[in-house]
Amino acid sequence: MSKKPKFQTPSGMHDILPGDYVYFQRVEKVCQEVADFYRFERIETPIAEQAELFLRSIGDATDIVEKQMYSFKTRGGDFLVLRPEGTASVARAFIEHGMNNLPQPVKLWHFGPFFRYERPQADRYRQFWQAGFEVLGEQSPVIDAQIIQLVCNIFKKLKFDDLIIEVNSIGCRHCRSYYKKLLVSYLKSRETSLCSDCRGRLKKNPLRVLDCKEEKCQRIYSQAPQMVDHLCDDCKSHFKQVLDFLDEIELPYNLNPYLVRGLDYYTKTVFEVHRRSKEGEPTLTLAGGGRYDGLIKLLGGKDTPGCGVACGIERIVSFMKEKPLKVSKHNTSKIFLAQLGSLAKKKSLVLVEKLREADIPVIEMLNKDTLKVQLSRANKMGVKYCLILGQKEALDSKIIVRDMESGGQKIIDADNIVKEIKKSLKKS
Ligand code: HAM
Repeated sequence: MSKKPKFQTPSGMHDILPGDYVYFQRVEKVCQEVADFYRFERIETPIAEQAELFLRSIGDATDIVEKQMYSFKTRGGDFLVLRPEGTASVARAFIEHGMNNLPQPVKLWHFGPFFRYERPQADRYRQFWQAGFEVLGEQSPVIDAQIIQLVCNIFKKLKFDDLIIEVNSIGCRHCRSYYKKLLVSYLKSRETSLCSDCRGRLKKNPLRVLDCKEEKCQRIYSQAPQMVDHLCDDCKSHFKQVLDFLDEIELPYNLNPYLVRGLDYYTKTVFEVHRRSKEGEPTLTLAGGGRYDGLIKLLGGKDTPGCGVACGIERIVSFMKEKPLKVSKHNTSKIFLAQLGSLAKKKSLVLVEKLREADIPVIEMLNKDTLKVQLSRANKMGVKYCLILGQKEALDSKIIVRDMESGGQKIIDADNIVKEIKKSLKKS
């Protein structure tokens, strides 16, 4: 058995090797296209933020804050955290850069790595990538529906089917606090039957009980009072309109009264997009989001509504890789440059640069010295033309252009190469 190398990626973190990077790029491109269509502008925030930002926004009784933050003290004494998610950072940037003075809503999107100290398992990483989309400064329910539509359009462009959209409303501060009391009183009477985590949640963050995956807890909360039955008039009307908009755009969804999400900043609409398993059940979560009308104020800004979504890039990539999907690995170049001899090698360097400046992709093997190896590679790559620069051509400032299909070749002045190649490519 071969010995493991001494140094490996930290547990739960992974290299994105070239074979996977093409998928990451493809997803980023699709996100960019969708963002452009819906007029989102790109933002990138730092990898680390003040710990207090996440304690306040995500909530101190959530799994992310209690168990999953990579936190550290800097030499200067600042207490920082590797960002576990993007919404709090975007909200911080919105306030810090006075974006409330811009025409509203402000639409921002980002694409980058995030960090959570989770138990590593399939499709759950400690460093993972997300694309996030945030709309700040608009409270209309049409935005909630549009955000769901936007993320579904990303999946549509990637040709995903078998998706399930789950939606719920967790109300606002007012109706939720009443509902929490009802829920606690229901759960208290069954406390001894809950798992030990949920007994703790019952005291600190009772809504989290609805998120528990333990069967015995699921049996209990499936009989619990539901938030949707206790929404205030404003939240009820908001949720009804979101569902009407989803019906209008014919996006099928499931109402999931137990969907609460693992972050405390949400208000009103919450949703997730899952893959459907072979048995038809929701499995892996590809994207999640919702409305967060209190977040900007909570972080010290003016009262500003917000709504957004983030999708997990590794999970999307692993879905893409299950199906035969064509992802072209390289620029399809139609030109190969082969060279022989030291003068030709030197002149080839200049020639490659000339072609690059003219936007003509060219494949070369300047590290190789024999023509045979180079020509056989040119054949394998299926290029249209092979430029051959031998010792004689290099001395005479000429170059051979071989048509790889017909086998015919001609000798041209090296100075005319760009013009000649452009002409030939146009014809072919
Ligand atoms: P989240 O549900 O925590 O929401 O994460 C969004 C997505 O990121 C998940 O649906 C999943 O695909 C992916 N993801 C999360 N954790 C991991 C992990 N450990 N490994 C691999 N993928 C993961 C948020 O982060 C919110 N900021 C979304 C949002 C934006 N809400 C409003 N605006």
